[in-house]
Amino acid sequence: MPDTYILGIETSCDETAAAVVRSGEQLISNIVASQIATHQPFGGVVPELASREHLRAIVPVVRQALAEANRTYDSVDAIAVTQGPGLAGALLVGISYAKALTFVLQKPLIAVNHLEGHIHAVLLEERQKGNHELQFPVLALVVSGGHTHLYLAEKKNESWAYRNIGHTRDDAAGEAFDKVAKLLGLGYPGGPIIDRIAPHGDANSVKFPPAQIKHQDRRKKKGAKASDDSPRFDFSYSGIKTAVLRYVEHHNMQPSIESRRKALSAITKPKLEDYLQTCDRQTLDLIASFQRAVVTDLMSKTLSAARAYDIATLFVTGGVAANSELRATFERQSAQEGLPVYFPSRPLSTDNAAMIAAAAYPKFLAGQFAPLDFSAEASLALR
Ligand code: KG4
Ligand code: ZN
Repeated sequence: MPDTYILGIETSCDETAAAVVRSGEQLISNIVASQIATHQPFGGVVPELASREHLRAIVPVVRQALAEANRTYDSVDAIAVTQGPGLAGALLVGISYAKALTFVLQKPLIAVNHLEGHIHAVLLEERQKGNHELQFPVLALVVSGGHTHLYLAEKKNESWAYRNIGHTRDDAAGEAFDKVAKLLGLGYPGGPIIDRIAPHGDANSVKFPPAQIKHQDRRKKKGAKASDDSPRFDFSYSGIKTAVLRYVEHHNMQPSIESRRKALSAITKPKLEDYLQTCDRQTLDLIASFQRAVVTDLMSKTLSAARAYDIATLFVTGGVAANSELRATFERQSAQEGLPVYFPSRPLSTDNAAMIAAAAYPKFLAGQFAPLDFSAEASLALR
C-alpha cells in the first residue's frame, strides 16, 4: 500500500485545526488556532463568536498545515472533516470548506466523528512509536468538555466499531472543571488552571459525597433486548459543581472570589504565581479536593467497567486526559491491576485535527467516503 496523506480539518468547538497525517501512523503537521482569547471575557464558548473565528482562521490554518507538511492541496490523497458532535455553526465552517476543497480538487471526502477522533489520537501516537500490537478488548474513556463516555472499541478488518457502555447523565467532567473555575473567579478554560493550582492545596480537606446514579433494571423492562442486560457505568458531575457552590456560600467566600476575578481579569495571561497570590488556603484546598473527587470517580468507574468487561487495554483521551493528577492516578491504579493504559501526548489530548486525519485512514482504506450533501450533526452518536 503506498503512503496515503490525509488532510484533517476540525472545527467542532473553539479550536480551528488542520493537520496532515501519513497512513494513519505518522503525524506530519499539526496546527491548532485557539480561540481562548475571544471567549475568555465571557467565561465560556460563545457559539456565534466561535463560528466567526473559525471563518477567519480556517484558510490560513489549512495553508499552514500543508506548508509545514511540505504538501500542496493537490498532493494530499483525501480530506477528512469532523461531522459532529459539536456546535452546529462551528462544524459547518469546517464541513463547507472541506466540501469546497474536495469539489475543486476532485479528492475523496471523509466524515469523522469527533469522539472517534479522540480515540484515534491514542492509536496514531502508539503506531508512531512502533507499537502495532494491540490487545483486545479495548475500553476507551473519552473525557472532555462536552463528553464523558466509555466505549468498547473493536476492530473488524480495517473498520472500527464502538459500543457505549457509560456516559454522563448531566455535565461532562471538563464542563465541571470549567464551571467550578468560573465559580471561583479563576477564568476560562478551567481545566488547565485547576490542574496547575491543585498541587498547592490539600486534596483531603473537603469531602464531596460520591455521585448517586439510579440505574434502571433493564432486564425487567418489557421488550428489552439481550444487549440491554449489559451493566452500565454512567457518570454525573453536576452534583459536585453544586456542592462547590454550597461550600462557597456556607463559608462566605464570595467577596474573595470577586476580588480574585477582578485581579486576574486585569492580567492578560496570568501565571501560576498570579493564581496562587489571589487564592487563600481555603480556596486552594477546595480546588485540590474538587479535582481529587472528579479524578477518583472517573478512575473507579472506568476500572469497574474494565473488570466487568475483562478489558485487556485501556485508553484515556480527550481534553481532561491532559490532567496531571488524572494521568498519575490512572497509571498507578492500572499498573496495580496489570492493565496497560495509554494516553495521547498532551497536545493530542485536547482538540486537534491530527486525530481526525488518523481516524479517517481506516475509512479511506474501506472506501467509506462522504457524499457532498452530508451535513453537520451536533449530537452525532459514535457506533
Ligand atoms: O477535548 P477538548 O479539547 O474539547 C472537547 O471536545 O470538549 O476538551 C476541552 C476540555 C475543557 O473542559 C478543558 O477545561 C478540559 O478539557 N481540560 C482539562 C485540562 N486541559 C483541558 N481538564 C483538566 N485538566 C487539564 N489539564
Ligand atoms: Zn474534543
